[in-house]
Amino acid sequence: MGDHFTQPDHGIIPALRWEEPPEGPVLILLDQTRLPQEEVELVCTDVQALVAAIRSLAVRGAPLLGLAGAYGIALAAARGYDVEEAVDLLAHARPTAVNLAYGVRRAVGAYRQAAPEQAASAALAEARALHLEDAAASRAMAEHGGRLLADLASGGGYRILTHCNTGALVSGGEGTAFAVVMAVHRSGELRRLWVDETRPLMQGARLTGYEAARAGMPYTLLADSAAGSLFTAGEVDAVLVGADRIAADGATANKVGTYPLAVLARHHDVPFIVVAPTTTVDLATPDGASIEVEQRSGSEVTDLAPSPLGTQAYNPAFDVTPPELITAIVTENGVVSPVTGECLAAVCR
Ligand code: MRU
Repeated sequence: MGDHFTQPDHGIIPALRWEEPPEGPVLILLDQTRLPQEEVELVCTDVQALVAAIRSLAVRGAPLLGLAGAYGIALAAARGYDVEEAVDLLAHARPTAVNLAYGVRRAVGAYRQAAPEQAASAALAEARALHLEDAAASRAMAEHGGRLLADLASGGGYRILTHCNTGALVSGGEGTAFAVVMAVHRSGELRRLWVDETRPLMQGARLTGYEAARAGMPYTLLADSAAGSLFTAGEVDAVLVGADRIAADGATANKVGTYPLAVLARHHDVPFIVVAPTTTVDLATPDGASIEVEQRSGSEVTDLAPSPLGTQAYNPAFDVTPPELITAIVTENGVVSPVTGECLAAVCR
């Protein structure tokens, strides 16, 4: 099984891996809903289990959703499930991160093109290729992002504010924004990583905290609502975030709470940088208003603290930052700045 494929080693338990025990192929996920308290793996033997894991955010984050989609097609094919039904279930499991549908498309494209007896292995090979491409994209984004920071922010070490979770837990490599932070940390130039807790599901506190602690970074957790006072105190040199979908005009959907950071960054004249692979760019979505934003159950908000019975909650999973508030978008193919449709299209080759 898969001896030609080596999982990239980024120092944490792989967020997702393919295995072929005698009972048949499985997709194994690190259950992110249980982190950081427990490192528990979920074993998916069918597409339904994978879709449930995607919806519950056991597996999450745009690039990793792309890998989950691709391996999900490989799983369906290898297990003899209806692949066309799997395409429909997986591609629509969550609506905002465009990588999910992209990963599904890549694997099913290879499946459909291959001879029937080779179709399942063609889907798996494509999922593995996407996995390696994602790891390579992480490395390239880290390089481009590191150079951009050196150009934009003053020397003497960087104090970087981030939101949500963008590291190895969401990627085949070291992630997107967090891969840049890792590079800065390795070069000894990370003065502080400010980690937004990221309400309501706490991806920052739980997951970025987990990754930053394991990397030995100097990091500090803050309530999302404390970001304004951090800017006022002059404690932020740059904001680095990932993306779930970037529209053709550069408008960027990312975890809810990202847009207010972009407004603050502009007000305080601090660079606001989006780091995302080109697989997150969706040139078919013309602008931010056209991005479908996932609405999640209000109970994710009301369960956080006691609230009167029957309280209704507003719970969009993402918000959209307009291109004029984004200093630069860092992709594996280079940096887009200024953020215009023309410059973005040029890196999506
Ligand atoms: O709802 P989630 O946890 O899947 O949201 C994830 C994010 O918003 C990340 O910031 C985004 O996917 C970029 S990850 C590289």
